[in-house]
Amino acid sequence: MEFSTKAIHSSYDCDEHNRALMPPIYQNSMFAMHGIGEQTPYRYSRLSNPTRQVLEDTVADLEQGVAAFAFSSGMAGIDAVWRTFLKPGDTVVAVSDIYGGAYDLLVDVYAKWGINVVFADLSNPANLDDILAKQTVKLVWLETPSNPLLRLVDIKTLAEKAKAAGALVGIDNTFATPYLQQPLTLGCDIVFHSATKYLCGHSDVLMGVVVVKTPELAKPLHNMMVNTGAIAGPMDCWLVLRGIKTLALRMQAHCRNALEIAKRLESHPAIERVFYPGLPSHEHHELAKAQMPKGIGGVVTVYLKNDSKAAADSVIQNMNIVKMAASLGGVESLVNHCYSQSHSGVPHDVKMQMGIKEGLLRFSIGVEDVEDIWQDISTALNSTL
Ligand SMILES: Cc1ncc(COP(=O)(O)O)c(C=O)c1O
Repeated sequence: MEFSTKAIHSSYDCDEHNRALMPPIYQNSMFAMHGIGEQTPYRYSRLSNPTRQVLEDTVADLEQGVAAFAFSSGMAGIDAVWRTFLKPGDTVVAVSDIYGGAYDLLVDVYAKWGINVVFADLSNPANLDDILAKQTVKLVWLETPSNPLLRLVDIKTLAEKAKAAGALVGIDNTFATPYLQQPLTLGCDIVFHSATKYLCGHSDVLMGVVVVKTPELAKPLHNMMVNTGAIAGPMDCWLVLRGIKTLALRMQAHCRNALEIAKRLESHPAIERVFYPGLPSHEHHELAKAQMPKGIGGVVTVYLKNDSKAAADSVIQNMNIVKMAASLGGVESLVNHCYSQSHSGVPHDVKMQMGIKEGLLRFSIGVEDVEDIWQDISTALNSTL
């Protein structure tokens, strides 16, 4: 089956569920047993739940993995992966422009628990060689395209290098979705999604989904999920399943609108620089064409010429359709002031090194009519001139 067919039909057989065409919401904590020792498929929803199982199997199928696990938020999913595969004394190498919440978790929690955390600019794969030559690395954690500057790393090359050194490779594939990029096919072991974003697509669920490549990785991760209990609830799983049915269509519309808006922003007088890997001006445009041939996704980031919080606020306050909000990946267009929102926990000097300036705005371009989106953004930008 092709991607868009799988997204609608994968992993659900209506014959097993009274021919209910859509997966039912099994809003149960427990499943009754006939007697002692009976082997029933479901017993207690922390262990597994039929609605969650359909979602997990669907995402595993879309990412070409063997199993998936759905958590109560993206951060709960990342934490479960790191807690499963890292122990005190181990080294994790993470991309330097990692999502702010993941940065906080590494620095505020994992480093304090004795994990050696190394941040590196992996857009140059030779930087990973240098690290691997000096120390034993347990896990390499990638994120591409990154949040918010949409920098890319070469997944295949980095995975080859990490695997040759005996490290596991995990990747945050939230911005790309399995529609645009399937990292397990490029050598990664673990794929993570903040399903809160595009997989859900309608800004009404918080969820993390982790997909693994082998049964050997699935077992300890499932144990961690069961032991720590941060599972996704049945209703949320059903909503994300429903979102996934239109993932291909939505991603096509996000990519089309975002590319058009990015092109127009490049010639707007209020804009200093546009970050969108689909544009020839982006530093990783060639890699983007090779690694993400179907499209680059819906996020477009800009530096305002007037690099100030006041100018950023003026743009935000002058837009009507595009709302300021913390997240991204829904059908509606949003804007984020990363300096004070997504990356607020990151120290000022680290933000400057990461390129998170006060005049940076990250747009999540939705699937509304592109002329309406442009009218809203371009008029608001004029207020900074
Ligand atoms: C790239 C990326 N990874 C992980 C997360 C964390 O996911 P959640 O907010 O669902 O916990 C986010 C949230 O913004 C994100 O953008």
